[in-house]
Amino acid sequence: MSSLLLSGRPVADSLLGSLKGEIKKLNPKLVVVQVGDDPASASYIKQKLKSCEAVGLRHEHKHLPEKTTLSELMMLIGTLNTDPDVTGFIVQLPLPKHLQSHVPDIIRAIDPKKDIDGFGAYNLGKMFLSVEFEHLPPATPSGVIELLKYYKLPIEGKHAVIVGRSNIVGKPLAIMLLNRGATVTICHSKTKNLSAMTKQADILVAAVGSPKMITKDMVKLGAVVIDIGVSRVDGKLCGDVDFDAVSEVASAITPVPGGVGPLTVASLIRNCVTAKRRQMENA
Ligand code: GUN
Repeated sequence: MSSLLLSGRPVADSLLGSLKGEIKKLNPKLVVVQVGDDPASASYIKQKLKSCEAVGLRHEHKHLPEKTTLSELMMLIGTLNTDPDVTGFIVQLPLPKHLQSHVPDIIRAIDPKKDIDGFGAYNLGKMFLSVEFEHLPPATPSGVIELLKYYKLPIEGKHAVIVGRSNIVGKPLAIMLLNRGATVTICHSKTKNLSAMTKQADILVAAVGSPKMITKDMVKLGAVVIDIGVSRVDGKLCGDVDFDAVSEVASAITPVPGGVGPLTVASLIRNCVTAKRRQMENA
């Protein structure tokens, strides 16, 4: 079976292009907070800032030293929350070891109106209501929905199987697919007989971070396969899906890199524009 390559770049370019007019009109500002020097974070932030530049979105990179204390970080969050010029901001994860256990408190400290990562309980909770209340959805799940829409791959009535139950990808994506009429199964590290589950998927999503764990025998003929995992193997980026073999059975499949990745950045920028629009409406 020859599978359709679900490249994320044209989708991201189309989404970013559609935002340019509103960016010019509303003039929002996005701030990225980085603590320490995690190399993967540095690379992600570079991509985010490059995309801001490309669409003319005002942006600022607040880079704090590795040894930043919780109270120093909380102080900055407080300042960003109250600065009327800042539309939205993110605290790039992972944080240095001494701050990692405080991530829930740090996310809770972000004003939900400025939480453009959509990681806080308020924005995640609203998603449970319906598509209409998905105002600031987390960027990666939002990117998956955009990708399926762009390539005209239907969701309603399909069985979506998600491998991975993180708060920022697996769980919110399950809700977004459910809101659009899919039957959803979430699998995780404790799931028994994983391949019996994945083989039922019309839409199979892998979001684990375990290189090539989804093999050809785990995929139904004709399935749409979305790979969100990113690992580095021998210096090269590698997804959760054994791409070459699974391509032989999938009807459509995302590459890694170049699949969902570019859409994550575009969705973050869309959230910043949405945040600004809603802040102005409610002012
Ligand atoms: N680390 C990896 N992806 C993300 C993301 O989307 N947002 C934040 N804040 N940190 C991340």
